[in-house]
Amino acid sequence: MISLKKVFMRYPNGVNALNGLDLEIKEGEFVFVVGPSGAGKSTLIKLLLKELQPTKGKIVMDGEDITKVHARRVPRIRKKTGVVFQDFRLLPNKTAYENIAFALEITRTKSKEIKPLVKKIMQMVGLDGKEKSMPNELSGGEQQRVSIARAIVNDPPILICDEPTGNLDPETSWEIMRLLRSINRAGTTIIMVTHDKNIVNNMKQRVVAIENGRIVRDDASGVYGYDD
Ligand SMILES: Nc1ncnc2c1ncn2[C@@H]1O[C@H](COP(=O)(O)OP(=O)(O)O)[C@@H](O)[C@H]1O
Ligand SMILES: [Mg+2]
Repeated sequence: MISLKKVFMRYPNGVNALNGLDLEIKEGEFVFVVGPSGAGKSTLIKLLLKELQPTKGKIVMDGEDITKVHARRVPRIRKKTGVVFQDFRLLPNKTAYENIAFALEITRTKSKEIKPLVKKIMQMVGLDGKEKSMPNELSGGEQQRVSIARAIVNDPPILICDEPTGNLDPETSWEIMRLLRSINRAGTTIIMVTHDKNIVNNMKQRVVAIENGRIVRDDASGVYGYDD
């Protein structure tokens, strides 16, 4: 489903963020990406979202080399991938409902289809009754549920999460992990960058460790493996 072959990323200032990274992810996998700060994790995510173009190497997604895709077809590539961030990134002046509906408006979903889709997804992520709440009226966990709903409402095959529990307390983090795991069980491939040792060590999923822009460890049922 996703394949990176000898991917190099050198930023204009000369920093080599990725140094020949090789990674294969199959459809339906749940993959933790770990590693020290500055290792290249966010760079990897930006390449998968096509926010960056690698200096060298091949990135195949769903059978297509996305490094060769023309600029005007980038939106079609981005539709394959939902994304969730540590800081939620909700639109502050829109309700929970509107934040999610907005993702459907962007993909030109027919307006009469939007309401039932948003209702269904809000129920699925556990946000029933919160339709009219503004982001600042929601808890961190609820805001992250809105952000997850927004990321999956267009039904992308891949969900990328960059430290989705980084701003949440341990109990709320586990609720979010249960939600992500249920989304994964329903068929979505999930790639999650995290520094949460407790979560990685308890989930017993595939763990890929990156250091200095390369994969240094890749275990099918792995552990976090760092002290922080
Ligand atoms: N836009 C950028 N321009 C220049 N260097 C960058 C940029 N973004 C990240 N870097 C550098 O690339 C390396 C990898 O960064 P990053 O992918 O953000 O690591 P991580 O997410 O693992 O902490 C670091 O040395 C970082 O300073
Ligand atoms: Mg990062």
